[in-house]
Amino acid sequence: MTTETRQSIHGEWSSHWAFIFAATGAAVGLGNIWKFPYIAGLNGGGAFVLVYLICILIIGIPLLMAEIVIGRNGRQNPVFAIRTLALEANASARCSWIGYLIILSGFLILTYYAVITGWTLDYIWQAASRDFVAKNAQGISALFNQLISNPWLVIFYQTVVIAATVLVISRGIRKGIEKTVLIMFPTMIILLLLLVGYSMDSGHFIAGLKYLFKPNFHELSAASALSALGHAFFTLSLATGSIMMYGAYLPRKASVTEASCIIAAADTGIALLAGIAIFPIVFANHLHADAGPSLIFQTLPLAFGQMPFGSFFATLFFIMLFLAAFTSALSLLEPTVAWMIERFKLHRTHAAIIAGSIIWLLGLGTVFSFNLWPSLKIIHASFFEALDYLTANIMLPLGGLLVAFFTGWLMKKQTSKYELNYKNGKLFSAWRFTLRYISPIAILIIFLNFIGMI
Ligand code: PHE
Repeated sequence: MTTETRQSIHGEWSSHWAFIFAATGAAVGLGNIWKFPYIAGLNGGGAFVLVYLICILIIGIPLLMAEIVIGRNGRQNPVFAIRTLALEANASARCSWIGYLIILSGFLILTYYAVITGWTLDYIWQAASRDFVAKNAQGISALFNQLISNPWLVIFYQTVVIAATVLVISRGIRKGIEKTVLIMFPTMIILLLLLVGYSMDSGHFIAGLKYLFKPNFHELSAASALSALGHAFFTLSLATGSIMMYGAYLPRKASVTEASCIIAAADTGIALLAGIAIFPIVFANHLHADAGPSLIFQTLPLAFGQMPFGSFFATLFFIMLFLAAFTSALSLLEPTVAWMIERFKLHRTHAAIIAGSIIWLLGLGTVFSFNLWPSLKIIHASFFEALDYLTANIMLPLGGLLVAFFTGWLMKKQTSKYELNYKNGKLFSAWRFTLRYISPIAILIIFLNFIGMI
């Protein structure tokens, strides 16, 4: 079959804008609003943000393009797409292992992602019931602990999130994902902008900006550089099959480069906006920026509880967080479901239910790591921390390295030339050079530096 005639059996987005919305919705999630501010806070702010931005630019964007190229050309789930393109280039069919690795990463991420998305539902409820008002730090942290130490409540929310994700995915590309994202994503942006306005008005705006943008290189260690790299992958949804899968539904005429730049710019812009919304509020209330994962679940509610209209804006904040997380959860499930449909000829709904149930089951590990199994430690980390570390800091960089290697060295050059369709040959060479040398070397340096080998 030739490139032009290959088609996805799951259909296509209705336009290239639908793809851009869906992929940006996939990219913007807990990573931008929950994780980015807290890891920036833990790693000292500015210098970390700088490394992260460099990673997005020289590793993230070229890889984003590579994944869309593979997806759109292969028009199948990542495993089959990579296998098809490998065979076309007379490379080994074993390259499809790269596809398994990345789908598995997305699958594992969803097991804990759904649990944390569930927390946001509880927080919408708490904020709307004015639970944060006039509470001190102990009071707020008691609320958080009450939630995470109650397995039944967390399982309830996790179940709601996974059931909703399964429902949307089983309705397919246009009727399910596209329709949902087209409503949720713009709503999320409007809420975020409202919150930035609120923070400018009532927070310590300049202190927040300084914290985010003033580099302090003493704080930058090899471990923070690895976190910045891992986070660049995580936030752009790279090496999880999400972008590659969404790319398989991209109409032929759309420009891959334009779409990639818009997605990366929107994702980065939203992470920075989230930081700009959060840190001024944290500083205005004399709280600490380096609280870690509890930054937005404890520090922020504490701040909101002291502020005028705090409950209202806290409710908006957690609704925004839920919307952002949900559109990402969709993209984490789709690659596995598409693979199951293509591999086992399953009905979409059945595939989604089976995958969702396994994810639910594995997710209990994350739920219990905060209550029933607090003492279960995997190399000093809880089940959840270990899973987050394994996926974000090891599997994603490794998957990214392999995708870059595959696209740059193994796949036919004509395939990417055809998909990128540049008038200017220099641009193509620059992209390919980056993918062949710069991205893999940068990933290796950060990785080896971290494990102490260089
Ligand atoms: N990019 C999403 C976020 O920032 C998380 C995600 C990772 C979604 C991988 C899909 C695939 O929250």
